[in-house]
Amino acid sequence: MDEHRELNRAWWDERAPAHAASSDYAVRRLVDDPAGLSQVVQFDLPRLGDVAGLRGVHLQCHIGTDTLSLARLGAHMTGVDFSPAAVAIARDIAVRAGLDIDYVESEVYSAPDALGVGGFDLVYTGVGALIWLPDIDRWAQVVAALLRPGGRLFVRDGHPVLWAVDEERLDAIALRYPYFEHTEPQCFDGSGTYVDTDVDFATTATREWNHGLGEIVTALLAAGLRLTMLVEHDSVPWDALPGRMHNVDGEWHLTEHPERLPLSYTLQAVKPAQ
Ligand SMILES: C[S@@+](CC[C@H](N)C(=O)[O-])C[C@H]1O[C@@H](n2cnc3c(N)ncnc32)[C@H](O)[C@@H]1O
Repeated sequence: MDEHRELNRAWWDERAPAHAASSDYAVRRLVDDPAGLSQVVQFDLPRLGDVAGLRGVHLQCHIGTDTLSLARLGAHMTGVDFSPAAVAIARDIAVRAGLDIDYVESEVYSAPDALGVGGFDLVYTGVGALIWLPDIDRWAQVVAALLRPGGRLFVRDGHPVLWAVDEERLDAIALRYPYFEHTEPQCFDGSGTYVDTDVDFATTATREWNHGLGEIVTALLAAGLRLTMLVEHDSVPWDALPGRMHNVDGEWHLTEHPERLPLSYTLQAVKPAQ
């Protein structure tokens, strides 16, 4: 398990600077425009509600573009990521944007040890987050531990059906990878990343785990949370199936038969007050 985590961490450490330099993350625009929001958080707005004054933690915050956006909406944000390179860049971006955000380098499963228990009104995560975690039950327990009673979880992530689709088959939507959680990771080997970049990466191996939508909901219920929203979307904020998608305002849609495949979802759950 540690061995899988170290492989993934090296992969993310090497990609973080390239992501920060890519036009897809639009860091310069976010820093320069004091009202700027990431396209991810912009998409979330109709479901996010008022976050002003909330103590929020962003799990797997990467280079902090969404964390920064939540801070601009008035939340007091802490970002957590296990990649020291991503955390260093996130800190630098926050300073350049003049925002006071706490960034903590931590494995997700250790976040309650790093941040304490029950201190957050909002746990925010997603956009390629859960696929890096081997055990959804443990993740749900972490979320429940971080939230204060009455606090809320907001997730918008790639749909587990999308993660199961064969990205190389252009003639049909075919399932190639597990939908349900699996003990052994999916082993991928590729020199690229999900943003537009010319960088030639040395790290290629990743280890990933899918979790079915029912498993995610059941894990949260078992951890004591109450489901308040589950919306499936026909778009996702990256080019998940290259050659078959087109971009509209930062969201990627299937060009043919978009009604056939859920690409992402938004889930919200609350930790009961008592
Ligand atoms: C796709 S990014 C998260 C998405 C974020 N919404 C973004 O695009 O900026 C995934 C992040 O998860 C982090 N990560 C992966 N596994 C992790 C783990 N076990 N604990 C903490 N962070 C992890 C990686 O370092 C990476 O920054």
